[in-house]
Amino acid sequence: DWTMAEFRSAKIAEIREQVGSARVICGLSGGVDSAVAAVLIHEAIGDQLTCVFVDHGLLRAGEAEQVVGMFRGAYNIPLVHVDAEEQFLSGLAGVTDPEAKRKFIGRTFIDVFDAEAKKIGGAEFLAQGTLYPDVIESVSFTGGPSVTIKSHHNVGGLPERMNMKLVEPLRELFKDEVRELGRELGLPDIFVGRHPFPGPGLAIRIPGEVTKERCDILRKADAIYLEEIRNAGLYDAIWQAFAVLLPVRTVGVMGDGRTYDSVLALRAVTSVDGMTAEVFGFPGDFLPRVATRIVNEVRGVNRVVYDYTSKPPGTIEWE
Ligand code: XMP
Repeated sequence: DWTMAEFRSAKIAEIREQVGSARVICGLSGGVDSAVAAVLIHEAIGDQLTCVFVDHGLLRAGEAEQVVGMFRGAYNIPLVHVDAEEQFLSGLAGVTDPEAKRKFIGRTFIDVFDAEAKKIGGAEFLAQGTLYPDVIESVSFTGGPSVTIKSHHNVGGLPERMNMKLVEPLRELFKDEVRELGRELGLPDIFVGRHPFPGPGLAIRIPGEVTKERCDILRKADAIYLEEIRNAGLYDAIWQAFAVLLPVRTVGVMGDGRTYDSVLALRAVTSVDGMTAEVFGFPGDFLPRVATRIVNEVRGVNRVVYDYTSKPPGTIEWE
């Protein structure tokens, strides 16, 4: 039994030992895991670490600014911010299969990252915020046959193609432990408590083809949903809440006109580690209020539904 303070100092010693005087580069995704890994490694080796934040244009509203601001401002950790939206969205044109989306995004992430790594003179080590559940779920599904459910792109793949050694200081940890470590390292509560967000981002929350227009619609609806959740004081009671923009159009009526627009699904679950999940039950008037706001404020959406599926048999994300 160790405390987080002990874990922190043990890991710092381990990272120093592993890395020596070599340079390390860390991919920041905008999520908690990679941020905690980066801050921990920075504490161990200082400016031998460079972070690269690849913005694929599939983030939520305001997410890129938050991460970049925190790293540059509060931590003074060298950070390269790459705007790769165009490259990702043009490559996703016509792609509808969930695993094809993941594979393309994973591959493109490596290409962009690789190019940036070369620009800063290369590095011997690659740091990632891989957690224990990422390791398990990419290999097999609990209790079932050895079948890949979803290929989380931050596990495997990178080292062979990039010829770098991996630094993965969070590999034994579960999400709640990473949050505890983040607090131990002084990361702001509002950041540490953030809901998990998948590497492929909004691409796997837009079943069917991903376009800039659909990303923008989803970002707006998602921001309203989360704003209402925060205002109701429910954010911390939920493991993950998000919206999914469906490739289905329905007929509606607004004012005295007919509408024919997309359906948006809302999801909110509770979970301990993301491996299983229960549907979150909102207070009675919450969802109707959010639905009304979204349909009134977001052009392109005229119907809102709520997903009542637990995991299993559903997964948390729709793709
Ligand atoms: P699922 O949908 O598999 O999600 O029940 C479990 C947790 O993993 C996240 N997730 C991903 N994270 N790359 C990631 O980095 C992915 O491809 C991916 N797919 C799902 C999901 O948001 C949830 O927290």
